[in-house]
Amino acid sequence: MKLILGIGGGIAAYKSAELARILMQNGHEVQAVMTSAAQKFVQPLTFAALTGRRVLTDLFALEAAIEHISVAQENQLLAIAPATADLLAKFAHGLADDFLTTLYLAFTGPVVLAPAMNVNMWQHPATQSNLAALRARGHCIVAPESGYLACGMTGPGRLADPQAIAQAIEQALSTSRDLEGETILITAGPTQEPLDPVRFISNRSSGKMGYALAEAAIARGARVILVSGPVHLEPPRGADLIPVRTATEMRDKVFESLGPTTIVVKAAAVADFHLSRVPDQKVKKTAARLSLELDPTPDILAELGRKKGDRLLIGFAAETQNLQAEARRKLESKNCDMIVANLVGTAGSGFDSDQNEAILVLRSGDSISLPRAPKREIADRIFDQIPKLRLALQTAK
Ligand code: PMT
Repeated sequence: MKLILGIGGGIAAYKSAELARILMQNGHEVQAVMTSAAQKFVQPLTFAALTGRRVLTDLFALEAAIEHISVAQENQLLAIAPATADLLAKFAHGLADDFLTTLYLAFTGPVVLAPAMNVNMWQHPATQSNLAALRARGHCIVAPESGYLACGMTGPGRLADPQAIAQAIEQALSTSRDLEGETILITAGPTQEPLDPVRFISNRSSGKMGYALAEAAIARGARVILVSGPVHLEPPRGADLIPVRTATEMRDKVFESLGPTTIVVKAAAVADFHLSRVPDQKVKKTAARLSLELDPTPDILAELGRKKGDRLLIGFAAETQNLQAEARRKLESKNCDMIVANLVGTAGSGFDSDQNEAILVLRSGDSISLPRAPKREIADRIFDQIPKLRLALQTAK
């Protein structure tokens, strides 16, 4: 495969030469890119000799005018070793002032970052918050090792072993395009059920889980149709966004779009009840008490379960208690292939959090615990199950 090895300016830059050698030995075509600081530690000639290619160093060289775009498009993975504190900060905040940082912004495939720096720089809250942002973006971070550092201090900060970085790169490459050819319909966010022209019933879903799923699926090569309730999020680049408001609208759009889909993931928090006849005018405060009689909304997941055919159907269960038992009941009653069960109402996961923790409940009777992690990482762990789910569906036929 074709991949980019970015080298940042740190004492560990020399170890990247060994990484380049391993990657070449593994049969990859490696394009080395060095920052100007990296060139103070190692000569580009070292990487040119190891990779058999010109090393890219200068954004402003005449021939490099749009090269960062073509290099971004031609390669399947971007690895950075060593990733310095400065590079992590620039990546986290989208600063692009040289070839490598510009390339990072133009690159849409998987990213593996192997940081190396002084222990205090590594532990600084600024670096840790930049890392959290990059992890949430779905990048793989190969944690530095603990030990004696070039600065004379001891602690975490030493570049991971080149073999371990190469292994992380192989792992990222093997999952990187595994959803190519799939068309995945994902529902996200809340629905809003009007009570009159100005009021509605809704819930606390932010859409973050569904949008993280969409991002992960696109990164892994799938076409994504994102049917989304009202949220305040930027739609993931490349998703076909279908905005909806109510459960009934979501139901209609899901079934209109179902034709080409091979996988459906229902992360939306659909309101269970609505007012079936909404008044045309704002309800006046005339009485001391107002009672609402609500009717059930269409159960989209249950209807999908009846009409799923060969598709994989992944539902969610948002529960405040009896998580596994409720999830298994939903799995059976709605004919799903898997339920992602998450506890809601606890701080730091579920609704409106950047993180989630879940139990994947499968038809085989297995359940898999996903410890608390950024929603983007949870999304990847959910999609990791696809081959197993497909095999189970085929053998059940
Ligand atoms: O959006 P975030 O802030 O990131 O929060 C994420 C989340 C907590 C909303 C998400 O992880 C989640 O749990 N989504 C499902 C919420 C939900 O409605 O759960 P439920 O147990 O009430 O419903 C079970 C399943 O049936 C869900 O897949 C739901 O989409 C579906 N459903 C529910 C009602 C209905 N009328 N039609 C449906 O299709």
